[in-house]
Amino acid sequence: MRASADFSENLERVGFWQLQDHIAGLTGLALIVADAGGRPVTVKSNVPPFCVLVNGTYDGKIACEAFRVELVRAAAASGKVEKRACHAGLVNVAVPLEVHGETAAVLIGGGVAPAPLGAEAVARLAEELGCEAGELSRAAGEVPVWPEERLAEAAALFQTLTRFAGRFLQFTRMFTHVLRVGNEIASQHSERAVLRRAVEGASEVLDAPLCLLRLYDEKTGCLAARAAWGIDEDLMDKIMHLPVEGTIAGQVFRSGRPLIVEDVQACGDRMLFPRYAAAMRTALVVPVRSRGATLGTLAVYGPAPRKWDEASIGYLAAIGTKVALAIENARMYALLREHYLTAVKALAVAMEVKDVYTQGHSVRVAQLSRACARELGLSGEALDQIYLAGLLHDIGKIGVPESILLKPGRLSAVEWEEVRGHPVVGARIVEPARFPAAVVAVVRHHHEDYGGGGYPDGLAGEEIPLLARIIRVADAYDAMTSTRPYRRGLTAEEAIEELRRGAGRQFDPRVVEAFLRIPAAELEETGRGGGGGGYPDYPSHRDFVRSLFSRKRRFSAVINGGRDALLRTVA
Ligand SMILES: [Fe+2]
Repeated sequence: MRASADFSENLERVGFWQLQDHIAGLTGLALIVADAGGRPVTVKSNVPPFCVLVNGTYDGKIACEAFRVELVRAAAASGKVEKRACHAGLVNVAVPLEVHGETAAVLIGGGVAPAPLGAEAVARLAEELGCEAGELSRAAGEVPVWPEERLAEAAALFQTLTRFAGRFLQFTRMFTHVLRVGNEIASQHSERAVLRRAVEGASEVLDAPLCLLRLYDEKTGCLAARAAWGIDEDLMDKIMHLPVEGTIAGQVFRSGRPLIVEDVQACGDRMLFPRYAAAMRTALVVPVRSRGATLGTLAVYGPAPRKWDEASIGYLAAIGTKVALAIENARMYALLREHYLTAVKALAVAMEVKDVYTQGHSVRVAQLSRACARELGLSGEALDQIYLAGLLHDIGKIGVPESILLKPGRLSAVEWEEVRGHPVVGARIVEPARFPAAVVAVVRHHHEDYGGGGYPDGLAGEEIPLLARIIRVADAYDAMTSTRPYRRGLTAEEAIEELRRGAGRQFDPRVVEAFLRIPAAELEETGRGGGGGGYPDYPSHRDFVRSLFSRKRRFSAVINGGRDALLRTVA
């Protein structure tokens, strides 16, 4: 029924109604289009007065509808022109309109009689339906009389029309799908998502039950299966590495040209499995190619006797090109993201290197905050933002003199004011670097208290951005559990008790609840500086900081020089 739904949607777009009206006017036949179930999808054109009168009665309407449904179903089932007389004696022809071998709609032409309607039959009909006999008789006299050959000619014209409409609809449907799938592929940010959408989309566009995407792996010299549609996960390992030589995919990869395989089995491709032998009889394979380089292959499979036409090759090749471009973009995006995070980590370290006792604090806060946000049901971009915000939240401390930051005892009022200025200084630092607005807001508001009275703006409750309320809790937890020269760190249990006590005052109670849902093992792992931050290619934060500390004197001079320059720009 998908073809039917598409047809109805596209009717208006292709102006089919007007076409139906014109043809009805030219031929003199009454015309209507119904879906494969017999429901009308256009308004009837050129209805003779006789039919208007019959349809105006309850019984006449029911009989007409039943006739239409029966006629349409017969045409849809046979796939051929069907001709029948209705209960009132008028003849109708029904011509199926097929898209991809499925009946999308049926065009019905009628409202004529093979011979003048008999007076007796019309009088009987008027009595049955409760019509005014004289009026029905006059209308019956106006029903056009068509010899059989004329109706056959009209049916032939309708067949040409439905064939044309079917092809047009098929083209429109495929073209629309290719455009949509192509745009969806292009909008994915991760390579994994690109590949997944590509196989799903290719399978959808070409109505193919199985689809497989392979990318060339330089390490193994093989074509590695990277995404599949319709193939069980457990088989993916077995088909993971395909040699380039002697295989269909390898041939396409080498030549950079599409290939149609009429009988996959005859090729002896290792891709075959008994489970899929019937579904994988024929294949269409295109290169995944962009800017002259072939990255891999995209293949769709179908059961025999599926034929892949020129249009199918074009559609799959278009998807293959989109995939290659999207993969390149995703790889570029991942690289930029890596560089970006390295720069952010370096900024965080630049701040921490001043204070040996807060080593790793930023990364731990980033990890704890992300875990807490996850427990609150946040996802995607918000998780990335809170991780960044965690790394950067105390960046403003770069402006606080080391003598204050490292002071073991109580701070004087003036010194305390210096420390309290770090969120504002931090926001000024990150703002020009075009960090997302949400991240800048966290840096500014991570010391606001839920119950009010925090700094710098004294916001309260929901006025404080949610991400800042999360950082507030994670920051406090890490500070409490860290050991300083002047005090021992609290245990996890003691810190959690403190968080509970502060819920509603410093902390958002909903955030505290979420924080308490973080699994204990994850809390402990983060406390030991683990967790890796989700970027496995990087040296761990501890190693990074340690390597900087080993060169601290040199680095400190750089940092202090940079700090002064930085503060001059944001002052
Ligand atoms: Fe802070």
